[in-house]
Amino acid sequence: MSIITKKNIVLTVFSLTFVGSVNAQFQASEKLSVAQAARMQARKTTGTATSVAHDPFDFGTNITDADLKQFTSPLPDGRGMPVGSGTVMQGKIIYTQHCLACHGANLEGGFGDRLIGGRGTLVRKEGVTPVKTVESYWPYSTTLFDYIKRAMPFTSPNSLSDDDVYAVSAYILSQAKIIPPDATMDQDSMPKVSMPNRNGFIRSNR
Ligand code: HEC
Repeated sequence: MSIITKKNIVLTVFSLTFVGSVNAQFQASEKLSVAQAARMQARKTTGTATSVAHDPFDFGTNITDADLKQFTSPLPDGRGMPVGSGTVMQGKIIYTQHCLACHGANLEGGFGDRLIGGRGTLVRKEGVTPVKTVESYWPYSTTLFDYIKRAMPFTSPNSLSDDDVYAVSAYILSQAKIIPPDATMDQDSMPKVSMPNRNGFIRSNR
């Protein structure tokens, strides 16, 4: 036997209203997700494979490996070097067109840094002025590739193809007498180049 009191009636009415409103919300959100699913499906079929809906804002795309590569450098052992190649002779042409104006006909520097020479000058010795160049200072050839690719030519960085960067790196390394004039630089040969100052660095614990 149920006893209907005023309090009971109020409570029942309240909970019915409450349940009703939750149900309405649920239905609304269900409608929303059906609409989102339709949008995602539409994207998939239009072929933009990398775009995925990002709830709740629904904009932006996932970063691709190619995007990420612009921010990461190859390692000294060659991991991350792009596939490509270039010869010293090809590099001479690139250098003349894109680098000579600032680095000089003999890589002696000008508006840009001197690139070769100075071996053996990085010593603490009376009367010897340190000359820091790719030849005298840089421990890894892979850094040369990465630096040129991302920072040079000074006024239009990242404009050279990987093959062009291999070639111009080969030219600089050969002018520095680190590799022979008939050498080809690619993703396998370049990391094997032994730089003159490779062992001139000490580990820092900072
Ligand atoms: C418009 C002038 C300009 C051009 C063109 C230019 N560079 Fe440079 N380059 C510079 C300047 C300036 C620096 C020094 C940048 C710094 O210290 O931040 C530099 C630095 C460098 C360095 C680092 C040298 C070191 O020991 O620190 C290399 C390697 C280099 N350039 C290679 C090239 C190559 C290869 C090209 C052609 C593809 C090129 N540059 C084109 C102006 C130029």
